[in-house]
Amino acid sequence: MSDGRGPKPKNMFEIMTSECRFVHLRIKGGILNHMMKRFISCFSPCVLPALVSLLLSVSLQAQDIPTDPAVISAGEALFNGNCKTCHRVKTKLIGPALAGVETRVPSVKWVFDWVRNPAKVIASGDEYANKIYGEYNKSQMTAFSSYKDEQILSILAYVKAEAAKVEAAPVAAAGGAAGGGSAVPTAYLDTILVGMIIILVLLVIILALIVNALRRFLNQRDLSEEDREVVNSPITFASVSRSPGFIFLVIFIVGTITFKSVIDGLYSIGVQRNYQPKQPIAFSHKIHAGQYEIECKYCHTGAMKGKQANIPSPNMCMNCHSQIKEGTNTGAGEIAKIYAAVGFDPMTSTYTGVTKPIEWVRIHNLPDLAYFNHSQHVNVAGVVCQTCHGPIEEMDVVKQYSVLTMGWCIDCHRKTDVNTKGNAYYDKLVELHSTAGKKAMKVEDIGGLECAKCHY
Ligand code: HEC
Ligand code: HEC
Ligand code: HEC
Ligand code: HEC
Ligand code: HEC
Ligand code: HEC
Repeated sequence: MSDGRGPKPKNMFEIMTSECRFVHLRIKGGILNHMMKRFISCFSPCVLPALVSLLLSVSLQAQDIPTDPAVISAGEALFNGNCKTCHRVKTKLIGPALAGVETRVPSVKWVFDWVRNPAKVIASGDEYANKIYGEYNKSQMTAFSSYKDEQILSILAYVKAEAAKVEAAPVAAAGGAAGGGSAVPTAYLDTILVGMIIILVLLVIILALIVNALRRFLNQRDLSEEDREVVNSPITFASVSRSPGFIFLVIFIVGTITFKSVIDGLYSIGVQRNYQPKQPIAFSHKIHAGQYEIECKYCHTGAMKGKQANIPSPNMCMNCHSQIKEGTNTGAGEIAKIYAAVGFDPMTSTYTGVTKPIEWVRIHNLPDLAYFNHSQHVNVAGVVCQTCHGPIEEMDVVKQYSVLTMGWCIDCHRKTDVNTKGNAYYDKLVELHSTAGKKAMKVEDIGGLECAKCHY
């Protein structure tokens, strides 16, 4: 704290008096109280400023930020719920990385004022506030006017605890990456394979021992010359492979495998369930639709209005990515591909005019003979995307969740009630339908099984 910025006298005084109040509380009512007052009045002119600046640098920076785990976890919840959209602890997002913030800002009290009303702090002409405001292209931080001091302190406590993990984190992350995903099942499979090989080798050894024992036993008997030859004939690969048992076994195994793959193949012609191609940009629904809860319709604008749901254009990505230049998982590499597509120079934040489309690989695709309309299902019927597309918001890479066969469409049309509420179009139909004695009106009752509805 001995740099140019230094504590302003006004602040010092505030701190001083609050420290005194603290002391008073502790020794309240005793003679000590009186002595303390005298002590302070004697020493205050020279000693107190020094004492206070010492307290400022030690207590405000370190002591005032709690280390209690309960406070830290309360802070974590607040941070994740309200600050994470714009701040990360160790990396820059829309706002600065908050690690070490307590050592940068003028005072902890400054953070209280800032979080409750950043605009006011900036407007007051505060030097530091205006400096960061400029650095972050004058993006306005949200005000959290209802936050109490303790809540803000708990966020700082969380940030500080999280920042302290700096050394350990990369190691853990690397370990996690290597051990996570497909690595676990593979390791598991390997163990099983190794186990099976060991068992096989043991079996061969045991069999060899048994053969040996039998041979020795038979040799002790009185055998004819012919029998003795048979007993002592060596076991060679040739003798085994010529035996009828072995030939039968090989034919059986090969036959079964062929049969099964032919059957599987026949059943899956044209069915692309679980199709999960690699996309040109590692775009993750888990991050966008899951973690950041961006609405599906924000990007797939056609789903409510027409046949196609539509894949968003790269210009739409720029609504956010003109600011967000790095991702937690892939750094700047993947987001740079958006910039290449729209012709954006992230260093100067200008457009070059050279564009190039992103070639997304289409995943869901009905044959041309079938007609499917999104708005009919999403808008009119009120079916949610996940019914047909699965938990997209948990997928890093999208895969086809449903089989998309005719049977699948028909099956749902047989089972699903028509969403008739608030739809005048259906009023007459519902009336007719209920006089016919049926309760719910299924899609099949409105012609959902007619060939021409789905086939051109
Ligand atoms: C809408 C985005 C946004 C949200 C949400 C947000 N901030 Fe900020 N924050 C910013 C920006 C941007 C700055 C940089 C200054 C500026 O441009 O106003 C900033 C600056 C700060 C600073 C000063 C950092 C420094 O390095 O000096 C602190 C402290 C801070 N924010 C705390 C918080 C806390 C705590 C929360 C949650 C309760 C929060 N912010 C939520 C955008 C946000
Ligand atoms: C930030 C924009 C964005 C949001 C939000 C978003 N998507 Fe997407 N979606 C895309 C992009 C880009 C693609 C193409 C790349 C891919 O397949 O990952 C895509 C692909 C898809 C596909 C596969 C399309 C095909 O080729 O068959 C489906 C299905 C899908 N999204 C459904 C959803 C659902 C459901 C939600 C909401 C839970 C959602 N999306 C939210 C941008 C978005
Ligand atoms: C509404 C805002 C918004 C839109 C629109 C948006 N993104 Fe993002 N994107 C984000 C946020 C927030 C992150 C997370 C940054 C992080 O990881 O810290 C992100 C991260 C990413 C990442 C990096 C992921 C990682 O963790 O490394 C990629 C790649 C990406 N987005 C691609 C796209 C593409 C392609 C589009 C357009 C189809 C798009 N984004 C549209 C907000 C958005
Ligand atoms: C009733 C089932 C169903 C529902 C509900 C549904 N989809 Fe689809 N979706 C499909 C089918 C079937 C296709 C393939 C269409 C084709 O090939 O013509 C598809 C294709 C897509 C595609 C890629 C091709 C295109 O049409 O642009 C995207 C993106 C998509 N859906 C997003 C969504 C989103 C977002 C929602 C929710 C708002 C949603 N879907 C709701 C069945 C559904
Ligand atoms: C999740 C259940 C569900 C699935 C799966 C589904 N549909 Fe539907 N479909 C509905 C509902 C509900 C309606 C009734 C919409 C309305 O009120 O008009 C409907 C209506 C329709 C209609 C209009 C029928 C009419 O008489 O007006 C067509 C065409 C249609 N679906 C085609 C398809 C096709 C093609 C598929 C398969 C690719 C499919 N649907 C898969 C639920 C489904
Ligand atoms: C609810 C929508 C729907 C209705 C109703 C419907 N179909 Fe289909 N049909 C489809 C879809 C979707 C496919 C494509 C399935 C695929 O690609 O596996 C299809 C495929 C087909 C095929 C081609 C099969 C193939 O393997 O390529 C034929 C033939 C067919 N339908 C005939 C009919 C007849 C006849 C009727 C009336 C009795 C009918 N469909 C009613 C949705 C429907």
